[in-house]
Amino acid sequence: MPSSNIPLLTIHIVSIFSLSIVPLMILACPINFGYVRNITWYDPTCFNVSSIISNNSQCCHTIKSLFSLGLAQHLNVSSMFLLPDNLTSVSCLKDFQVELASLEVPTHWVSTCLDPEYFVSNPSFCDGIESLDDWFRIVGKKTLINTFCKDNLFDNHCINCLSAIRITYRSKLMLIDHSNEESCLLLAQLYTAGSVNIHGLESKDVASCIFDLNGTITNMHHHSFFVKHKYVFRYVILPSTLLMVFGAWFSFMDWGIKKCKIM
Ligand SMILES: *[C@@H]1O[C@H](CO)[C@@H](O)[C@H](O)[C@H]1NC(C)=O
Ligand SMILES: *[C@@H]1O[C@H](CO)[C@@H](O)[C@H](O)[C@H]1NC(C)=O
Ligand SMILES: *[C@@H]1O[C@H](CO)[C@@H](O)[C@H](O)[C@H]1NC(C)=O
Ligand SMILES: *[C@@H]1O[C@H](CO)[C@@H](O)[C@H](O)[C@H]1NC(C)=O
Ligand SMILES: *[C@@H]1O[C@H](CO)[C@@H](O)[C@H](O)[C@H]1NC(C)=O
Ligand SMILES: *[C@@H]1O[C@H](CO)[C@@H](O)[C@H](O)[C@H]1NC(C)=O
Repeated sequence: MPSSNIPLLTIHIVSIFSLSIVPLMILACPINFGYVRNITWYDPTCFNVSSIISNNSQCCHTIKSLFSLGLAQHLNVSSMFLLPDNLTSVSCLKDFQVELASLEVPTHWVSTCLDPEYFVSNPSFCDGIESLDDWFRIVGKKTLINTFCKDNLFDNHCINCLSAIRITYRSKLMLIDHSNEESCLLLAQLYTAGSVNIHGLESKDVASCIFDLNGTITNMHHHSFFVKHKYVFRYVILPSTLLMVFGAWFSFMDWGIKKCKIM
């Protein structure tokens, strides 16, 4: 009977939908890099075709700082300092590169300056601090950062905050492994930008003082729903919908053939 095939059709659709959504959700980058286009971080060395392409260049410093703002955004929403796995990290670098390419920054800079494995959460990254809870357990909730980096960060406030960051990561972190300086500094910057400063990532101060990017972030709140959820849309909803439509079509054909045979 054709009517008995209707629930089967629904099961087809549901299972195809769930199977397609799971890997896509794991792969999607949780960070929205739209801020890259809205802060004035202009660094001429990133646009100069004669610049020497190297890991230690001025442009790489800028690129790392720009990417770090995204990690601070991620810390703010997930309480995790770094990304959950390599695939996610690779997909974040890809999204980040797309934003930079829209500003006509040559694409080689991302692969030159950023190594996806570096941004994957792991217990050897700066004394094993992976989450905000780890930070509170090891460093505490009342640090100099909480005192000096909470509010405005211009002029002397910036100098004081940068000292607080330096003293905190050198005295409270790096206790186990002194070769971790770069990673411990990054954690302290992320904590300051993503959790302590009340003006958050929208503020000019955070980008220019903490990450040494001079400029302002504007309009972080003015994104449309679509822009805000662009990545979810691109990597999850759109492919799943396509697969679902195909699945439904195949199931329907299948059902039609069976129906013809019965009749
Ligand atoms: C960037 O700012 C402009 C206006 O200054 C706004 O129209 C645009 O939507 C913003 N884009 C993003 C990705 O924030
Ligand atoms: C581009 O880089 C080259 C080599 O570093 C330098 O000589 C030149 O002045 C730069 N051009 C601009 C426009 O900054
Ligand atoms: C992470 O992904 C990159 C790019 O696909 C790859 O080159 C690298 O080997 C991966 N690392 C691990 C630990 O899987
Ligand atoms: C940059 O150089 C350092 C040390 O020379 C190295 O450990 C790191 O993996 C390099 N990063 C990239 C993205 O190649
Ligand atoms: C995220 O940022 C907001 C505003 O800056 C702040 O109130 C909130 O506490 C932050 N979240 C975390 C987990 O620190
Ligand atoms: C940003 O830095 C560049 C180069 O260091 C400088 O020329 C420019 O005036 C700075 N802009 C602001 C707003 O501080």
